[in-house]
Amino acid sequence: TPADVLVFGSLNVDLVCRVASIARPGETVLAPRYEQLFGGKGANQAVAAARMSGGGNRVAMVGAVGDDVLGQAVADNLRGEGIDVGGLQTAAERTGCAFISIDAAGENAITVASGANGCVTAGALAPGRLGPQSILVLQMEIPLAECVAAARAARDAGARTVVNLAPVPPDLDEAGMLQLMELADVLVVNESELRAAAAICAIESGNASERARTLSERLDLAVIATRGSRGLIIADRNRPVRSIPAMSVEIVDTTGAGDTFVGVFAVGLSEGRAPDDAAERAAVAASLACRKLGAQSAMPTAAEVERAMAELKP
Ligand code: RIB
Ligand code: NA
Repeated sequence: TPADVLVFGSLNVDLVCRVASIARPGETVLAPRYEQLFGGKGANQAVAAARMSGGGNRVAMVGAVGDDVLGQAVADNLRGEGIDVGGLQTAAERTGCAFISIDAAGENAITVASGANGCVTAGALAPGRLGPQSILVLQMEIPLAECVAAARAARDAGARTVVNLAPVPPDLDEAGMLQLMELADVLVVNESELRAAAAICAIESGNASERARTLSERLDLAVIATRGSRGLIIADRNRPVRSIPAMSVEIVDTTGAGDTFVGVFAVGLSEGRAPDDAAERAAVAASLACRKLGAQSAMPTAAEVERAMAELKP
């Protein structure tokens, strides 16, 4: 049976250090200890989606892990979240690993050793995994060509595709951007990704709203730009740009907040919500995910999101 939400992307183990300030080139900083947590933008988005749907929706993860202990642990972790891992591939590289520093303000610096993530192929999206009701979710920690192939498979199956352009591939040019976005329905970016995506399309001027709107018109899809504590904006071609404020929370670690947004947003679309409505809930979930250390370890359940939304709108 096709998935409601199918995430095609990266899986990592995150090694996380809390530091007073992030090391600059040539500098050494000490952290008292490190945590080993589950991460990877793809896996994070799948977990956010699974927690939000509380077992009611079919969430599947397709990607690649290494033939090693961490790969086993990553797969077991997803299984434990109720995620279908039948499409996970095993590659002849080590399981992806992210080296993360979190500073006192909750800002992060991340280096990802891609390993097995670089070996994933869209062939793993066997026919039958995607149907007309499915939402395919993509991010950019796996090869771009495989993402394009996956988006094409989704289009062929009548599914919708959400692209999270994170991180922006260094080799992505305007033609590549048009090729991928032509196959997509919604583009989700943060502020720096919005600037980079706009620049690729030679959109250099204007504020965030203007850039998002021009990008939306140029690429002919809805553009959501997440802006941290300033909430988010949604541009959808010639419709006026809408902005949704962020819920204020005490920030411990923003790692995975964007992934939470994307996963929860995809669940909303798969449940038939309008993009604005899906984005509003996803924004609340993303804020909640900033209150704890780590990505998956901080993601809320559907009940927690509902409770927070009820408190926002008494
Ligand atoms: O978006 C956060 C994620 O980026 C981390 O979990 C890390 O694995 C990197 O992929
Ligand atoms: Na977090």
